[in-house]
Amino acid sequence: MVQTSFTLNNGQKIPAVGLGTWQSAPGEVEHAVEYAIKEAGYRHIDGAFCYANEGEVGQGVKASGVPRSEIFLTSKLWCTYHSKVEEGLRETLNELGTDYLDLFLIHWPVAMNPNGNDKRFPTKPDGSRDVDLSRKIEDTWKDMEKLVEKGLVKSIGISNFNIANTQRILDVATIKPVVNQFELHPWSNELKLKEFCEKNGILLQAYSPLGSTDSPILKDPEIIKLAEKYNTSVGTLLISFQVNRGVIVLPKSVTPARIASNIKLIDIAPEDVRLLESNEEKGKHWKCVSPNWGVPIF
Ligand SMILES: NC(=O)c1ccc[n+]([C@@H]2O[C@H](COP(=O)([O-])OP(=O)(O)OC[C@H]3O[C@@H](n4cnc5c(N)ncnc54)[C@H](OP(=O)(O)O)[C@@H]3O)[C@@H](O)[C@H]2O)c1
Repeated sequence: MVQTSFTLNNGQKIPAVGLGTWQSAPGEVEHAVEYAIKEAGYRHIDGAFCYANEGEVGQGVKASGVPRSEIFLTSKLWCTYHSKVEEGLRETLNELGTDYLDLFLIHWPVAMNPNGNDKRFPTKPDGSRDVDLSRKIEDTWKDMEKLVEKGLVKSIGISNFNIANTQRILDVATIKPVVNQFELHPWSNELKLKEFCEKNGILLQAYSPLGSTDSPILKDPEIIKLAEKYNTSVGTLLISFQVNRGVIVLPKSVTPARIASNIKLIDIAPEDVRLLESNEEKGKHWKCVSPNWGVPIF
């Protein structure tokens, strides 16, 4: 039977499916979060400072009526806060209206100017992103560890960290990352990263598991055929695929019917998991999230 939760390397349990909240617009996201928790049974919400909607996410959590202690809440340290980690967390806690997080991730392995011309996306005079190369990810990680020691967050992790950057964290970590959140779907399976992380006790979390907004993956004939074989929707197939291969999955929706169906997982036979994992060997590779940081990331 497909699992409904995973155990992190510190013993903490995490529900296998979390509701994504990126691009969930103001006026929509509070209701999506409330519905997900109250009606659809979600106990895991994935947010971030950068999504500029954490206030509403927090209101949705409260409106659900489910105690905070029963909900696994994740947020992410934004790039302009690498050199002021606790301040970044406290802004998020304040927005969410909570006094702790279950999981806090470094959103990207790149720092941006904390005193630039914009709080989220500072730019240089030539229009490129105002990246702060003097701030090392190792130092940001050591500041993340302090948040666990202070009891402000239960677990810490990373996001968009390739093997080399993950190794840099492992080289200095007293507290190991529990997860690495990465773009994962059948057109971007990251098999080497998965093997590396699992060998080091780090679980992967799949972001954009459906291929994000206007996804071409939903129209892939092979994937449609496989969904038909299981008498299910492409959405359920893609979400279940991740959990069946040992990956926590974070589908986003603001549509009640989709929110409800996205948490219902099916078992997928190992040979079909392998089939979905083999797309890149066949030359099919695509990433929907690939911002131009001006420095190599992936
Ligand atoms: N760490 C990072 O850098 C990072 C980057 C990207 C995303 N994330 C996280 O991962 C979450 C998910 O990624 P994502 O938002 O990029 O994309 P996604 O979950 O792959 O796709 C969301 C899109 O699919 C639609 N959808 C939802 N359920 C569906 C279904 N069953 N069938 C067909 N379409 C469906 C949604 O529409 P409706 O909402 O209109 O239903 C929305 O347009 C984010 O919300 C965020 O929490 C993290």
